[in-house]
Amino acid sequence: MLGIGKAPGKIILMGEHAVVYGKKAIAMPFFSVQIRSTTSYEKGPITISSACYDGELETSEVAIFGIKTLIEKTLEYLDQPIQNLHIKIESTIPPQRGLGSSAAVSISVVRSLFDYFDEELSHDTLTELVFHAENIHHHNPSGLDATTIIEENFLIFEKGKKVKKVTSKLKGYLIVSDTGEIGNTKESVANVQKNLKKNKHLIDVLGALSEKAIPMIEEGDNQGLGDLMNQAHSALNSLGVSNQSLNALTEVARLHGALGAKLTGGGNGGCLVALSNTLVEAKIIADALLNNGAQHSWIYHLKEDEYE
Ligand code: MEV
Repeated sequence: MLGIGKAPGKIILMGEHAVVYGKKAIAMPFFSVQIRSTTSYEKGPITISSACYDGELETSEVAIFGIKTLIEKTLEYLDQPIQNLHIKIESTIPPQRGLGSSAAVSISVVRSLFDYFDEELSHDTLTELVFHAENIHHHNPSGLDATTIIEENFLIFEKGKKVKKVTSKLKGYLIVSDTGEIGNTKESVANVQKNLKKNKHLIDVLGALSEKAIPMIEEGDNQGLGDLMNQAHSALNSLGVSNQSLNALTEVARLHGALGAKLTGGGNGGCLVALSNTLVEAKIIADALLNNGAQHSWIYHLKEDEYE
């Protein structure tokens, strides 16, 4: 018998970092990439196979400590022994690039364990189990990544509040592009925290940009949203979470017709997101990014009221 669990990536359109301090963020699931976890029977201690670790769970490295704790907690919740399982984690989400890979791994693993033991999994239980692992991975995470991936909706997130779904009238294309550089969210969040007094004003600016973006998304104002994305990138750069590649590639996107471009996620490496009205423009931008050093570009079609 096999237990299967899947989870997509996520894109933060506005409000990363500021969301940790109670500001609004706007995020959506990113279905072009995915994690798939498969749980099967294997006698003996639990083993894992994944791109970053292959071997026994018990002796696993610090890097997957969050997942180890998550598996143990989930099995405890299911009242099952911590043994006789093999968990295979396959991913098309590049890790540590701001696309939510750690939250998606956690979500897919919990889903696969519940599926294996043929148990119903509610959103609340999934959230509770996954938030625990995210706390270990990320150090004071807002919960935005896990919530967006669990909800699979275009949403407005505010820490500690009920999430709201955005009814989007945006029609156009997001170009998501990977610098190929690893960004460490935990470190970025900690650096912003370290200089919080100095950064307070920038957090307020980012929060205000999210507020302004909401009616633009609801009205389908691509041009207005693009402007706000540019302003958000500039504020994130001043916050110290951008880097040379992200600055250069967001500029390449603008020079090739993007309505706006900004880093997405934790920053200091990882991905950027750019906006265009048409597919032809999106392809020009995606190609320009690849020709200027990006490792991968995805084109994501924004359709009116896509999420229900
Ligand atoms: C990471 O994807 C988003 C951050 O805002 C951190 C968080 O919300 O926990 C940088």
